[in-house]
Amino acid sequence: MAEAATRDSSLPTLALAHPTEKEKTAQFKQNGAAWRGALSLELYLRREEILASQNLTKDGGLTYWVLIDTAANDRLVLSGCETYRKKALVARNGKVEETITHGIGSVFCPPQLRRRGYTARMMQELGEALRTWQTEGKECLFSVLFSDIGKKFYAAHGWEPFNSSHISVPAKTSRIIDTKDLPTAQPLYEGDLGELCKIDEAMLRKSLEARPADSNTAVALIPNVDTIRWHHAREDYVGKELHGKAPKVKGAIVGSEKGKRVWCYWTRMWYNNDPKESKGNTLHVLRLVIEDEGLSSWKGSGGNHINGSGKSHQQNGDGRSSYHESAIVSLLLMAQREAQEWNMAEIGTWNPTSVMVSAAQRLDPNTAVVNRDEESIASLKWHPPHKGLVAESIDWVGNEKYGWC
Ligand SMILES: CC(C)(COP(=O)(O)OP(=O)(O)OC[C@H]1O[C@@H](n2cnc3c(N)ncnc32)[C@H](O)[C@@H]1OP(=O)(O)O)[C@@H](O)C(=O)NCCC(=O)NCCS
Repeated sequence: MAEAATRDSSLPTLALAHPTEKEKTAQFKQNGAAWRGALSLELYLRREEILASQNLTKDGGLTYWVLIDTAANDRLVLSGCETYRKKALVARNGKVEETITHGIGSVFCPPQLRRRGYTARMMQELGEALRTWQTEGKECLFSVLFSDIGKKFYAAHGWEPFNSSHISVPAKTSRIIDTKDLPTAQPLYEGDLGELCKIDEAMLRKSLEARPADSNTAVALIPNVDTIRWHHAREDYVGKELHGKAPKVKGAIVGSEKGKRVWCYWTRMWYNNDPKESKGNTLHVLRLVIEDEGLSSWKGSGGNHINGSGKSHQQNGDGRSSYHESAIVSLLLMAQREAQEWNMAEIGTWNPTSVMVSAAQRLDPNTAVVNRDEESIASLKWHPPHKGLVAESIDWVGNEKYGWC
């Protein structure tokens, strides 16, 4: 340890490596103290194992990284993190290409080694490594992370903060909603998700293809079923361990006519360390899809988040907007029922569109958009050389909770 205390973070011999099983477990044991929530350490370790064996993460989908000193006799983990390989779309110069991106998570430095620049060095090395990691000869154009330590640290290494706003609706609202004028919402189960995700992906692609050639470069993580299921694997595991069963209702849908439906998927996250308490527990809307908006313009499918690319929800001239609002009210009412059943205090939606905000305000007039400064700051690094800030020249489409890792 004495050697570690004096090891300079700028030493040329410091390098990225992949941890051994023993090192990985040691990292988990240390970060579990902060991140296990209401789970015991043993259950937290098991959860991480399960999350590492999903379609999204198995067979190389999840990579563990550590910073070590390659010249030292005692191999010591100076800092560590994980990266998730994800599918993404990039639209630029009138063309849309499918690519892979990496989502960085679980950045963690052992407490006794902090504030010596090791994590900064790791991020610098990682930014370089990810450009070609698992790209099969292509270039990885960008990577993302969700900072819980504000906007500055990661920005210094190229991961610039993007729109990171949300709204919260309490699980219980005192307002009585007259449901007779609302369209009916049906629950979505696991088996429903695959087809809906495919439709969503196709719409997202189309909407990006429809962008004028001179628009900003746009990027989107693909909201595919593997991504959604990874979130659900977590809620299933924690649900079973804390409440004896896994939640079945994974989202809700309004309408049955193809092309005119509105749906969302959600996931429950238990943040409270006491499983009996609901404070802080949040049912997160992972992705909201408005089918006819996604089909009608590139502004749909998540491009029209308020405070996002500066575009707000637009009426499309046929009164669909107020229908969309009512449809979302119905989705939120079902979300509220689920939230109450599963000991959640609130429903959260990241980077909501204005129609989502007005729907939420019908349930709770106090709903206001919160711009986060500290936690879950959606951050993106554009890997090719560029001038100036990319947050001003790149639109992150579909910057919703489903992208979190
Ligand atoms: C955050 C963390 C990874 C930083 O590791 P580190 O090796 O100490 O970081 P470095 O020495 O390279 O850089 C230190 C800088 O990080 C930033 N930083 C560290 N913790 C921070 C925090 N909680 N909030 C804001 N900035 C923070 C500061 O800019 C700090 O510089 P300073 O010492 O001059 O204030 C480490 O503190 C940790 O593991 N924390 C617990 C887990 C966690 O929060 N991970 C981040 C998830 S996004």
